[in-house]
Amino acid sequence: MNHFLDIHKTDKADLRQIIDQAAAMKSARNGQPKGAPDAERPLAGRMVALIFEKPSTRTRVSFDVGVRQMGGETMVLSGKEMQLGHGETIADTARVLSRYVDMIMIRTFEEAVLLEMAEHATVPVINGLTNRTHPCQIMADVLTYEEHRGPIRGRKVVWSGDGNNVCASFIHAAGQFGFDFTFTGPPPLDPEREFIDLARAQGVRVDIERDPMKAVEGADLVVTDTWVSMHDSQSTRERRHNQLRGYQVNEALMARAKPDALFMHCLPAHREDEATSAVMDGPNSVIFDEAENRLHAQKAIMRWCLGV
Ligand code: CP
Repeated sequence: MNHFLDIHKTDKADLRQIIDQAAAMKSARNGQPKGAPDAERPLAGRMVALIFEKPSTRTRVSFDVGVRQMGGETMVLSGKEMQLGHGETIADTARVLSRYVDMIMIRTFEEAVLLEMAEHATVPVINGLTNRTHPCQIMADVLTYEEHRGPIRGRKVVWSGDGNNVCASFIHAAGQFGFDFTFTGPPPLDPEREFIDLARAQGVRVDIERDPMKAVEGADLVVTDTWVSMHDSQSTRERRHNQLRGYQVNEALMARAKPDALFMHCLPAHREDEATSAVMDGPNSVIFDEAENRLHAQKAIMRWCLGV
């Protein structure tokens, strides 16, 4: 069995296999109703626990639908309603759940919770987002880029805004899939140095450019995310708006990228803050393909985890 904890912790060949299988599985569904099972049902007889300690629309629904399409069943659990939220240890929770279910997906706050769950579970554990990374999202984003524009290797991806958990997983993907990455945002919100150094050590360019207009020159893909995260306080929210105002992705910024540059946002968005509706709904935007591809990418991730 394999845990899917982060992109930089997963073998490059396995990442490629997951993307290719996701594309093949998406194509094989060929416009069937969403509730129709896949021709192959590799999760038949399997139960998957989906644990959420934070809100979710895409992750929750796409994992649930994905498991069902592959013939399995799900159990959606809220951290607050479990004993986990009332003092039971993560290790004990992992050991107990492993006796009931075949796989665990968890969305939590601290990365340490995910890692402890994986250490003590005897079934695969999938990272459905922590405060530090969001690998399932970026697998969907790589799939989305490649289905629109071909191989992402050698391309230039520009992230504008907050160097948050989604940005971190994009930097991991740069190193593993072999594309260049430019971060543009204010210094206090830079991505973690450790992640930048790791990608550079893998032979790709990772730049920090404070001027967003310069940063997007030659970009094949422009990405942003909400300026406030689920765990941020009200005072943080106000500070973030002041820091990030100059990094909004709007038509003027997109005009400096390559003419065929794609625009991505993992959603949910605060329209007219981090990106304008003109860009989000414009011809270069693939935001709803990204959302759909969470389903296909995660189905391939689950198959890889279980080896089925
Ligand atoms: N992008 C993403 O993870 O969306 P949700 O928070 O709705 O799951």
